[in-house]
Amino acid sequence: MIQELCPVSHVEEVADTIFVLAFVSDRIAHSTQPAQFVNIRIDEGIEPLLRRPFSIYQIEGNTVQIIFNVVGKGTDALRRKRAGDMIDVIGPLGVPFSLHLDSFDTAILIGGGLGVAPLPLATRYLHELGKKSHTILGARTASYLVDRYLENVSVATDDGTRGHRGNVVDLLRIHAPAFSAQRTRVFACGPTPMLRALQSFLLDSGMQGEAALEGPMGCGFGICQGCPVELVGDVRKYALMCKEGPTFDLRKIKL
Ligand SMILES: Cc1cc2nc3c(=O)[nH]c(=O)nc-3n(C[C@H](O)[C@H](O)[C@H](O)COP(=O)(O)OP(=O)(O)OC[C@H]3O[C@@H](n4cnc5c(N)ncnc54)[C@H](O)[C@@H]3O)c2cc1C
Ligand code: FES
Repeated sequence: MIQELCPVSHVEEVADTIFVLAFVSDRIAHSTQPAQFVNIRIDEGIEPLLRRPFSIYQIEGNTVQIIFNVVGKGTDALRRKRAGDMIDVIGPLGVPFSLHLDSFDTAILIGGGLGVAPLPLATRYLHELGKKSHTILGARTASYLVDRYLENVSVATDDGTRGHRGNVVDLLRIHAPAFSAQRTRVFACGPTPMLRALQSFLLDSGMQGEAALEGPMGCGFGICQGCPVELVGDVRKYALMCKEGPTFDLRKIKL
C-alpha cells in the first residue's frame, strides 16, 4: 500500500456528467491489478474530511485514471481539479478480480452505470492471459454510456436509446446460452439491485461469478470496521469490504 501526493494530469468529461481524472503515480501505476481501488483525500481543508474510494479505471505509463460522476462534495471537488493540482492518494487497495483462475477461459464482464470502472483493466489483463472477454454495459440512457477500452461490447439501456431496452442481467440471460456455464466466469460491478439480480441468475445457471462492491467505506484498509459485507455459508458473519474485497464470489455474500 502506497500513500502519495500525486499531481493531477487532466480531468475530462467523457459522457454526460461523467468525468475521468488522471493523476501521476509511478508506483501505483506499476502495482495495480484489476478491481483494486484508491482512497483519495481530495482537499487539505475540512471538506470533504474523509477520503473517497474510486476503482482504478485505466493505467497508461505512469498515469492512473479514475472515472466518476458527481454525486456530492468530494466528486464535485474532483471534477474541478486542474493539471498540476495535488491529491493525496492511498492505493492500490483491496483484492483484485481473480482473472488468473484456471477454472475458466472466457470472461463476461458486466458494468452497470459507473460499474464500468474496473472493466478496462480487466479487459487488458484477460487479453494478456490469453482469455476471451465479452462485455455487457448498462446505463439509464445512451448519454451515460462509456465504452472506451473494452472489447466485444453489448449494451442495454433502460430507455432503449442504445442497444437492448432493459437491464444488463436481462441481456446476459439472452447471451448466456452461447457460453459454457462450466468454462465461463462473470466479473461484475454496479448497483446493488443489479448485483442481486445477477446473483440469482448465477445460482440458477450454475455459472461462476464475482463482483466488485462499491458500498460505503471509511479508512479503506481494515482499521475502522466501517465496511461490513454479510457472508453466506461461512463461520464468520461479516467480511470487511475494503480488505477482503471489494471483490467477492457472488455465491458467498448476502447483498
Ligand atoms: C471500492 C469502491 C470503489 C468505488 N469506485 C467508484 C468509481 O469508480 N466511480 C464512482 O463514481 N464511484 C465509485 N465509488 C463510490 C464513490 O466512492 C462515492 O460515490 C463517493 O465517495 C462519493 O463522494 P462525494 O463526496 O461526492 O459524495 P457524498 O457527499 O459522500 O455522498 C453523496 C451521496 O452519494 C451517496 N454515496 C456516497 N458513497 C456511496 C457509495 N459508496 N455507494 C452508494 N452511495 C454512496 C451518499 O449516501 C449520498 O447520498 C466507489 C466506492 C467504493 C467503496
Ligand atoms: S473501510 Fe475501514 S475497515 Fe473497511
